[in-house]
Amino acid sequence: MTSTFPSRSHSTRPRSTANSSTETPPVREGQTLPKDLLGFDPSYERLGEIAIIDEDDDERAKEIADALMDSDLPIGTVVNRASPIEGELRVRNWDVLAGKTTETVHREYGCAFELDIAEVFFSPRLATERHRVTDQVESGEQFLDMFAGVGPFVIPAAKRGAECVGVDLNEAAVEYLRRNAERNGVEDRVTAIAGDVRAVDGYDDWADRIVMNLPHSADEFLDTAVELAGDDCVIHYYDIQHDTDPFGPGEAAIRAAAEPAYEVTVETRHDVRSYAPHERNVCLDVRLRRSR
Ligand SMILES: C[S@@+](CC[C@H](N)C(=O)[O-])C[C@H]1O[C@@H](n2cnc3c(N)ncnc32)[C@H](O)[C@@H]1O
Repeated sequence: MTSTFPSRSHSTRPRSTANSSTETPPVREGQTLPKDLLGFDPSYERLGEIAIIDEDDDERAKEIADALMDSDLPIGTVVNRASPIEGELRVRNWDVLAGKTTETVHREYGCAFELDIAEVFFSPRLATERHRVTDQVESGEQFLDMFAGVGPFVIPAAKRGAECVGVDLNEAAVEYLRRNAERNGVEDRVTAIAGDVRAVDGYDDWADRIVMNLPHSADEFLDTAVELAGDDCVIHYYDIQHDTDPFGPGEAAIRAAAEPAYEVTVETRHDVRSYAPHERNVCLDVRLRRSR
């Protein structure tokens, strides 16, 4: 039997019984893999001890889930996508095909992230991109993530010595962000704020670096980003656009919001991944320098 977890809940708090998966171990010779049980190699993603599949056929989904559970891989839960990512909180519904908990601890680039996929957004596919950005962070800089989730940009930035602020509308995500700051030993350098980033007080003219990972509507938050930016600030602006001009609309929106108060320089036009046929998920790394 499958159960569908709702995608939205403002009230549910993280449970204290999270498992503690470790970095995905290499497959040992002689281990039974899902393909040994199925006769084909199924496609799935791993998030801590959760395996995520994307199957329309219920029978095939169950067969894959059973094989994942019966294999020697350290998998405790198998879920199937049950809806697109939706709503302001960018969460999706899941059919839980095997196991019980949708909470796990996922590890990437030396950081551990506790999270519940039924409560918060998290994409393991963006690990390399997050590393590209956080690798640029310098000790002592003031780093602000306007849409922080459970902290996959904030925690590595804090580990590099930045003073970090992470804001998110999703209270459950912010609670995980606090816990992840503690788990990774950077709670002294992380301030986690629950609420609409447009209503945050006390950080005007503050940031040396801003991350804006809300690709479908980041342009609506550019006025806020400009208010938060210090005299010299890099903005990592995520966007999803048609492949004929993936960077143009974002650059125009940033210039419209920041000029003439700031000089705007696009430092990098980075193609992150394909999002849909003819649609690209891109990142603009843009420096704002206050005009004299
Ligand atoms: C695409 S997710 C990115 C989360 C995280 N940065 C990551 O990479 O995993 C966007 C996040 O923005 C949050 N969000 C949406 N509208 C917001 C707002 N007005 N103010 C603050 N956070 C918001 C959502 O709750 C969601 O967690």
